[in-house]
Amino acid sequence: MERIVVGITGASGSIYGKRTVEVLVANGYSVDLILSETGKKVFAYEIGVKVEDFVRELPQEQVNLYNPDDLFAPPSSGSYRTTGMVIVPCSAGTLGHIANGVTRNLIHRAADVTLKERRPLVLVFRETPLNRVHVENMLKAMDAGATVLPACPAFYGKPSSVKELVDFVVERALRLLTGKSFNLLQEWEGSQPLRPTS
Ligand SMILES: Cc1cc2nc3c(=O)[nH]c(=O)nc-3n(C[C@H](O)[C@H](O)[C@H](O)COP(=O)(O)O)c2cc1C
Repeated sequence: MERIVVGITGASGSIYGKRTVEVLVANGYSVDLILSETGKKVFAYEIGVKVEDFVRELPQEQVNLYNPDDLFAPPSSGSYRTTGMVIVPCSAGTLGHIANGVTRNLIHRAADVTLKERRPLVLVFRETPLNRVHVENMLKAMDAGATVLPACPAFYGKPSSVKELVDFVVERALRLLTGKSFNLLQEWEGSQPLRPTS
């Protein structure tokens, strides 16, 4: 089974993280899941379910939940092979730690490892409006190899539910991470190419 590390921080938008885990599990991936301390609180507040109860309903062999202060956990080491890592949603605080190489918890460490091992790291950043520090940290993280994907759904697909808005962001993040399609959104077809007329 391919392994993906999923970090969920205390930014608003826990629903993006929850859906990411569900889609990965449904597609046969193994998920190493880490919530920051504030991530756990915001998840419980926004979803109305504790993360432990959410994980209990998933196939146990596919999801490993770690404490954010457990720096002895496997994702702390580059020798633990993973396909990559997504932080969804990613707070301004966690972006700052990653961009500046400051490790205070397992999410920061796993992200640092992902970058040093040259594996894909996708940061689904959620904050608005932006200050200069956010923008500078995004540039630093991008220069180090991360992809910054703002939690910013599009409307050209004419979404009719929150789920469709969430799926747009989740599909884009997972495609960048794995190079595969998860069929959560319809591809844009736009106008048809010109054909020669006889
Ligand atoms: C309900 C709630 C919503 C929040 N939303 C955001 C947000 O969208 N973006 C952000 O950067 N911080 C947000 N915060 C603040 C972060 O949770 C806080 O900065 C925290 O220290 C981030 O730490 P973490 O990245 O380790 O989770 C929110 C806090 C709360 C309580």
